[in-house]
Amino acid sequence: MTSTESSSMPTDMVTVVSHPLVRHKLTHLRARTTSTAGFRRLVRELSLLLAYEATRDLKLEPVTIETPQETMEGEELSGKKLCFVSILRAGNGILDGMLDLIPSARVGHIGLYRDPETLEAVEYYLKLPDDIGDRICIAVDPMLATGHSAVAAIDRLKNAGCKSIIFVCLLAVPQGIACLQKAHPDVRIITCSIDRELDDHGYICPGLGDAGDRLFGTK
Ligand code: URA
Repeated sequence: MTSTESSSMPTDMVTVVSHPLVRHKLTHLRARTTSTAGFRRLVRELSLLLAYEATRDLKLEPVTIETPQETMEGEELSGKKLCFVSILRAGNGILDGMLDLIPSARVGHIGLYRDPETLEAVEYYLKLPDDIGDRICIAVDPMLATGHSAVAAIDRLKNAGCKSIIFVCLLAVPQGIACLQKAHPDVRIITCSIDRELDDHGYICPGLGDAGDRLFGTK
């Protein structure tokens, strides 16, 4: 387990970001009385904090710069560039905060819906940068519930040549984590909380409701 987490998940591939700011903002995000505007703002702020955690291992290289006082050796990012991939539609809520922190990242989109008969994830939209295989991919979806759409999205990323993938969500449940880890044990998961369970309708409990509806003010 990593130093920032407070969970009992049995793997160092799951990080629960337990910073006090994250816990505070997540509590307000969950509250049913939070307005659409407030919800959007909180998702943006939490996403920025999650992006900070997801990019913790980026490589640096030395660079010589002049400060107003003297010459010094600084550091700047080197190596692989990033691509954020939004799993539509609620993933788009997370992109804004991540792009606030890393505006030069490329962005891909994956649209999936669940076939009501086969329960398989069916793709209706896929647009990824051509050079995605050379980038670190951060796939975003606010809710890791059953895990089926996360698995299907990561299947597509790997088919497109991605070798380095991190999955970032606001909330997860043990069932969704198990499903994703079974299919893709190499994918690191970063979340603000591991909630108790899914209800009979596939909603995370205690959760925050339907993330897409709350972000976009739909019902
Ligand atoms: N998707 C949501 O938006 N909310 C849940 O609780 C589960 C999946």
